[in-house]
Formats: sequence, structure tokens, C-alpha cells
Amino acid sequence: MSIPRDLRVLVLAVVSAGALVLFGASAPLPESVDLGRLLFWIVITFTAASLPVRLPGEVVAHITTAPILAAVFDSQLANPFAVCWVALLGTIELRDLRGELPWYGSLYNRFTYVLAAFAAWLIVAVARPLTRADDPLGTIALIILAGLAFSAVNMLLVVTAVSVRTKTPFARVWAISISNTMLGIVALVFLGWLMAEVAVKVGLWATLLFMIPLLLSRYSFTKYAETRALLFGSVSALSQAIDAKDGFTRGHADRVSRIAGAIAREMGLPEKIIEQIELAGMLHDIGKIGVEDQILMKPARLDPHEQELMRRHPIYGASILKPSESLRPLAPLVLHHHENYDGSGYPEGRKGEDIPLGSRIIIVADAYEAMTSDRIYRKAIGHERAMDQLNRYKGIQFDPKVVRALGTLLEKRGADAFEVSELPPINYETLAELRKRLAREPLARDAHAG
Ligand SMILES: [Fe+2]
Repeated sequence: MSIPRDLRVLVLAVVSAGALVLFGASAPLPESVDLGRLLFWIVITFTAASLPVRLPGEVVAHITTAPILAAVFDSQLANPFAVCWVALLGTIELRDLRGELPWYGSLYNRFTYVLAAFAAWLIVAVARPLTRADDPLGTIALIILAGLAFSAVNMLLVVTAVSVRTKTPFARVWAISISNTMLGIVALVFLGWLMAEVAVKVGLWATLLFMIPLLLSRYSFTKYAETRALLFGSVSALSQAIDAKDGFTRGHADRVSRIAGAIAREMGLPEKIIEQIELAGMLHDIGKIGVEDQILMKPARLDPHEQELMRRHPIYGASILKPSESLRPLAPLVLHHHENYDGSGYPEGRKGEDIPLGSRIIIVADAYEAMTSDRIYRKAIGHERAMDQLNRYKGIQFDPKVVRALGTLLEKRGADAFEVSELPPINYETLAELRKRLAREPLARDAHAG
């Protein structure tokens, strides 16, 4: 299997730079190599590598940072020779051994570690003579610098590769994987230094005790990933509930969410806010659960009274979200997703900048999605005509800045721009579809089931 085109330059650059460093560190061989000690660190690192953590955004994290930095700080190792080999061999994972990664992926990961470990060693080699061994502040600074060098090289290369491979913006991958685990990484760096100290002053065996805090720090990474998956899973389930009820096009909310997220990114908003807008996009019509079925599913035009009741759905939506701590920040975005820019919308008739930016984005995404997807009662009108409509009503119904951002986005990247999202794609039978299928199937089965 050959290396995919877009990854080729990156893989070749990292592997050749890593191989050069490895060669430079190994030839000529250092005079005295404590092979037993080297093997010990390789085994410890390998054990840590066998317990990877899957972070959101397809980034796989490891607790190997601690033992590799321990090898950097271990003054009884012949470095940088030793640490380069610890990084190369110790980080081999079960995924590599089972052949679950393409060969160039395994190679890329190995040499990423070699480069990161070498960078950390280089910093320590340069900075250590400048600090006294008994100076606590100097030592702490040294640990931080080494940790920074290691993590910066490592994460930069890992996130770049994931970003190129999954065609997701770098900032996005960074925000959902690394930025939330930063504290855990800092802990690993200090743990690495402690392991080296204990190895030198007490003995190698004593570092085994550190497996416990190492596993604990892994647990905190796992918890983060799980909590996040839980939130996204719940939001998607909630949004399906409304999907089933109002019989909208399959995945309407999902598409609105992706479009809104893409517009927000085009406008340069921070990833944390983009994520909120995506989640709110997913749930914008959740309040329709509170609207009576005869109104929600009425095939004809709504009379003024019915329209009045229908217009309460943003209020219902906000009240559904408020009790949940993690969903509460989305409530204002949902509440105002039918406010028009000129103040003629509902429920509060807010105007211009008084409408939350997220809501101004969602209303544009909602309109664009509705116009570009087929519905039972009419065909999609296509991107160009949809943009014409949005432009016609900008400043009236829509925020001109938001419409412009969508226009730029479509010019730049076409409709593909909406594919990047943290939300899982819909590849299951939705409630709406399940409902239709069960309605077609003979009732006899239900009778037996009871
Ligand atoms: Fe709505």
C-alpha cells in the first residue's frame, strides 16, 4: 500500500528527519551503554503504550510521555542514544503489531516520538548546565521546558497528520483532543521527571510503583473522552426524537448543525463556541415536541391561532434544555433561532446584535438547509437560488455578516464544507424511518410480542 498523496510530504519529512536524528545519536555507538537499563525503560514505555486512549477527533493519546521523559532525565543512560531507542521501540503499540495501522502510519508515529524525545533531550542538554542541581526553581523550569519541547513536537506532528488525514481543520482537531487534556499531559511530564529521580536515587525497581499514578492519569483521559461521547450521543438522540415527530427530511437537524458549524468557523469563532453552535443547531427545533401533533403535522397552511401555538416552540425548546447543566448554555441560542435581524421575528422580537450570534447563524443555516434539500411538498431549489433568497432577505431576516460568511464558504469549498463535524454521521435507522417501517409491517408480530 502506498502513502496517500496528501500525507506523502509529511510522512517523508518526519521519517527522514527522525531517521537522521536516530542515526546521528547511534553512530558512533556511545562507549558504555547500560543495556539492562535501556531495556528496562523500553519495557516500561512499551507497557504504557499498550494502554492507548482514544480521544475525540480520532487522536489516540498515550501515557508514554512519562517514561520517555524519565529516560531523558535518567543521568545514568547514554543519551541521546538511549532515549531515541526508547522512543522508537518502546512506543510500538498493539495496533502496530496487529497490523491495524498502515505501515507508513506506524513509521510516522515511531519517528514522531524519536523527534519529540530528541527535542526534549536537546533542551535538557542545553539548559541543565545553566541550572544548579539544588535550585528548585531551576529544576522546575528545566522539567517544564523539556515537557514543552517533547509535547510540542509530538502533538504538532500527531495533530497535523490527523488533520490532513481526516480533512479536518488543525484548530478543530487540536481543540477537541489536546486542549482539554493539557493538565493530564503536564502531570505526565512531572511524573516522568520523578520516575527518573527515583530510578537514579532508589533503584530501577522503585519506578514500577509509578505505574499506579500513570494508570490513574490514563483514567482521567478516558473519562474525558467518555463524557464527551455521552453528551454528543444524548444530543443526537434528543434531536432524533423531534425528527420522528414532525416527519422532517431525514437528518435536517444534523445538516443544519453542520452548516451552522461551518459558518461559525468561517467567521473565525473559537472552537468552543463553534461546538456550542453545532449542538444548538442539532437541537434548535427540539421544542416542537411541545407542539400538538395536529398542528405539527397539519398538511395544510396553519391558521393564525395555530401559527401562534407553533411559534412557541423556541420557548419550549429553551425550557427543555435549561434543567441540564451541560445543555443550559445552548438554551439562549435555541430560544432566539426565529428572531429576525430587523426585529420582526419571535419570541421576543429582538433586533440585530441583541440576538445571540449563534441564533443568527442557525437561522441562516436552517433556511439554507430547508431550501437545498428535498421535502415531501417541494423540490430543492439548489445552491444558487438559495443564496439569492438569503441575499434578498439579508438585513431583514438575516444578519448580512452571516449570509456573507456562508457565501464565501460555498465559493471556497462548495457544499463539501459542511462535512467537517464532530457529530457522528447518521448511518442508523432514524426513529422516523423505524416508525414508517413498523407501520408497514403486519401487526401480528406486535400482538405476539405482547
Ligand atoms: Fe424552529
